[in-house]
Amino acid sequence: MSTEEAPLFHHPDRNLALELVRATEAAAIRAVPWIGKGDKNAADKAAVDAMRAFLATVDFDGVIVIGEGEKDEAPMLFNGEHVGSGKGPACDIAVDPIDGTSLTAAGRSHALSVLAVSDRGTMLDASSVFYMDKIVAGPEGHGVIDIERPVGDNIRAYAKAIGKDIEEMRIAVLDRPRHTQLIADIRATGAGTRLILDGDVAGGINAARRGTRIDMCIGVGGSPEGITTACAVKALGGFMQGRLAPKDEAERERGIAAGLDIDAVLSIEDMVRGDNTFFVATGVTDGALVNGVKREGPIIRTESVVLRSKSGTLRRIEAEHLVEKWLDDEHL
Ligand code: FBP
Repeated sequence: MSTEEAPLFHHPDRNLALELVRATEAAAIRAVPWIGKGDKNAADKAAVDAMRAFLATVDFDGVIVIGEGEKDEAPMLFNGEHVGSGKGPACDIAVDPIDGTSLTAAGRSHALSVLAVSDRGTMLDASSVFYMDKIVAGPEGHGVIDIERPVGDNIRAYAKAIGKDIEEMRIAVLDRPRHTQLIADIRATGAGTRLILDGDVAGGINAARRGTRIDMCIGVGGSPEGITTACAVKALGGFMQGRLAPKDEAERERGIAAGLDIDAVLSIEDMVRGDNTFFVATGVTDGALVNGVKREGPIIRTESVVLRSKSGTLRRIEAEHLVEKWLDDEHL
């Protein structure tokens, strides 16, 4: 085919996430005054307000499937709320204005502002069950890892698939008492853990990407974060499975009443259907995925990643914002 005939790209269309990144940038910038101030609710509120204001400027008709919670408890970005201008594609949206509110309040690394979008009706609403057991790895995990098998078997099989010595394997796990046995089982294989204080969305993404310090991310974290992670992992071609982990019988019953299959192994496709997912994250504090917000004189720098499943693109966006444009915030 001559260069004249060869199309540069087969179906160039809109990458919604390139507009939505402004919302995570704004949320991250507005959270900055609260980094290390010990008030995670204030940090979250600042990020929520900013994210919501910027979402309103984007032409799409979004319904929040995963948000700040039920309407009664969350005044804004609650589950079921309509966001966006109302014009344009009908979408489901998951928002996490800060994944790592405690990290932010403590002034620790790895806090992110995150959102994910998919076509309307494709995102699983898992909000009635708070926790999900998850296992995330790179593309070689397909057909190799199975959440129902012992963790040692999965680590060994995946190490073989990616051609790594088991001693070199690094497994991210949330540092929680509930993971004591899991951590012991991982170490018993010879692999090393990377214990994370919070933020298993970033942990999952780093497990799914090539060339990071993490090979797998395993364990129980938030189910909303699980669905959000699935949107990103889908775009990266990575492997992920989840299984809801109700705390008690009452939560199990609530999940069943909401139509969830509590014991099912959830594939990425079960968590978000179709090939039209978008994922955006901006660093609040420095992390392995992106750097946090930095103020340099009259400039505020942000770093974000933008993923799109249809094209498989990962874009890293560094933005310089003028402090004077954000000066209505007394803390900046
Ligand atoms: P917050 O932003 O609400 O602090 O959540 C952070 C987080 O670490 C998630 O990344 C993770 O999925 C979840 O909390 C784990 O929940 P728990 O802290 O109850 O173990």
